[in-house]
Parts: sequence; C-alpha cells; structure tokens
Amino acid sequence: DWTMDAYRDEAIRQIREQVGDSHVICGLSGGVDSSVTAILLHEAIGDQLTCVFVDHGLLRQNEAEEVVTMFRDHYNIKLIHADESELFLGELEGVTDPEVKRKTIGRLFIDVFQKYAGEIEDASFLAQGTLYPDVIESVSFSGGPSVTIKSHHNVGGLPEKMGLKLVEPLRELFKDEVRALGHELGLPASFIGRHPFPGPGLAIRCPGEITRDKLEILRKADAVYIDQIRKHGLYDEIWQAFVAILPVRTVGVMGDGRTYDYACALRAVTSVDGMTADYYPFSHEFLGETATRIINEVKGINRVTYDITSKPPGTIEWE
Ligand code: XMP
Repeated sequence: DWTMDAYRDEAIRQIREQVGDSHVICGLSGGVDSSVTAILLHEAIGDQLTCVFVDHGLLRQNEAEEVVTMFRDHYNIKLIHADESELFLGELEGVTDPEVKRKTIGRLFIDVFQKYAGEIEDASFLAQGTLYPDVIESVSFSGGPSVTIKSHHNVGGLPEKMGLKLVEPLRELFKDEVRALGHELGLPASFIGRHPFPGPGLAIRCPGEITRDKLEILRKADAVYIDQIRKHGLYDEIWQAFVAILPVRTVGVMGDGRTYDYACALRAVTSVDGMTADYYPFSHEFLGETATRIINEVKGINRVTYDITSKPPGTIEWE
C-alpha cells in the first residue's frame, strides 16, 4: 500500500523531529491502536522507547504472555510488564457496582502507570494512540459522559502531572487506516483483526462480585467460545464476542451426579462503530455444539445461555 508506506515514512520523520534524543514512554494495552503506536515509535527511535504494559489481572487467557512475547521477543521493544493483578483484584474485592468497578480500575491504572513510568530515566514524552475520531469527538456511552471508549487507557491528565509532552502519531488516522499502517509495519493479520476489548477487561463481564475463581472459569469459557467462532470461520464477521459469567448458580446433572454451578451468557454482535449493534444470528447447531463444549470442558459452568439483545436497548457489555 503506497499511501501507508508514504505515511509511515513521514510519521517516522515527524517523530524523530519532535522527540530528538529524548526518551518516550508508551502505554501498551495489547489493542491495535497502542500496538501500532509502539511499533511506529520503535521504528523511529528504537531504544529511546520504553513501553509499559499494565496487567490488571482482568485479561483473557494467555493475553499477557502474547503481548509480552510479541513486543519484547519479536519486536525487541523495551517493555515493562507491570503485573499488578494482586493490587487490582484486592481493591476490587466486594465491589459490585459497575461504575465503581470502572472508577477503581481507572484510578489504580493511573497510579500504577505513573509508578512504573516514573522509574524510566530521562523520559520527556508520553506516546498515545489517539485517533482522529478521538480528537474530533469524545464518544460517550453506557457509563454517561465521563466514560469514554478509552477512558482507562488514555491516561488523562497524566502528561501534565508528570511533566511529559504528548506524542500522538495516529491522530490524523481513522481506524481502518491504523489497521493498514499496522499491516505496513508487519503486525500479523490475526492481531490487527482482533475484536475490541474494554479497558476494565473481564471486570465488566463478571456482573456482581469479582473473584479469582469466577475469573478463571470465565477465561476458560471465553477461550472455548472464541475457538468455536474461529473454527466455524465466523470471527471476522463479528464485531465482538465474549462470555459473561452470571452471578447465579443453577442445578444440573452430570453422569450420575447433581451439579450446582455457574450459568454463563454468550454474547456476539455485529456493529460498525460499537454505538449500535445487532446480536449475531448463530445457527442452532453452532450454539448447541458450543454449549456442550463449554459444559464439558469448563469445570464450574453447567448452563449456557445466548444473549439476543441488540443495542439499543442493551449495551454490548453486561455492565
Ligand atoms: P457498550 O457496552 O457500552 O460498549 O455497548 C461499547 C464498546 O465500548 C467498549 N466498552 C469499554 N471500553 N472502557 C473501555 O475501554 C470501558 O469502560 C468500556 N465499556 C464498554 C465495549 O467493549 C464495546 O466495544
């Protein structure tokens, strides 16, 4: 793609001009925007870049390892893996209100980011994967005006607080252009095409109290569900798909015994921008096969439901 090729060269030139010999910190979430930002910066300034990946313990199965392997081992980018799951899960103990969950995670995220970033010597810039739509409008949804799509990953107010200047190399691009740039930079297609994942992670897919047990069950069920979707070739047709573990246990039978385990809900929607969405019309065969697999493969779940709510009136996430 010659346009993106030229864009990349120009972006690299501008980054070098802006940054000079200074050091840059980049918050990495594992999402497409922050990944493309990091790789572009790395091409421009190499070891003057350090990425901070905050692991709040609310990620999907193998997610942290995948991010670390790709950026540290494959791209050779300096990366701090801030494994702070103890802190986050500890503070979230007993918290059930969705907005309190979000606020708690957002607050801790900023504290943790600041702590790790503060240890990077001579840093004078903070890189962010701000896109053009983020610049022209502040999208708000379920949580009201204070909650934006990037509410927890763009560390609002932090640059000033830490005396850092901003580098935002994607601020002229739309999402599809970021994907094209990612392709140009050698990001694997499977990575570029990944479904969006919310900043608060599995916390908002675990209505009610978050426990380690529930998170573990949720991770396993989600992995089986996504595996099913990929096997049936449906991943790219779907905007987002995930499992929510419900705060209710139900009775079932397994072999000769009675079970009393969690119920879960499968969610899958099509959408253009996340603002409105339709539930995905899976076949009954697909749903039946997936339910059987989840119940057989995931200890702790004995009932599977499918969420057929569109947005509006529902939201995509359960909280
Ligand atoms: P809803 O559930 O509001 O979600 O229909 C719309 C899109 O936004 C994502 N989402 C979030 N992303 N922080 C985020 O970074 C959040 O608090 C948050 N809440 C929802 C959701 O995954 C979907 O893509």
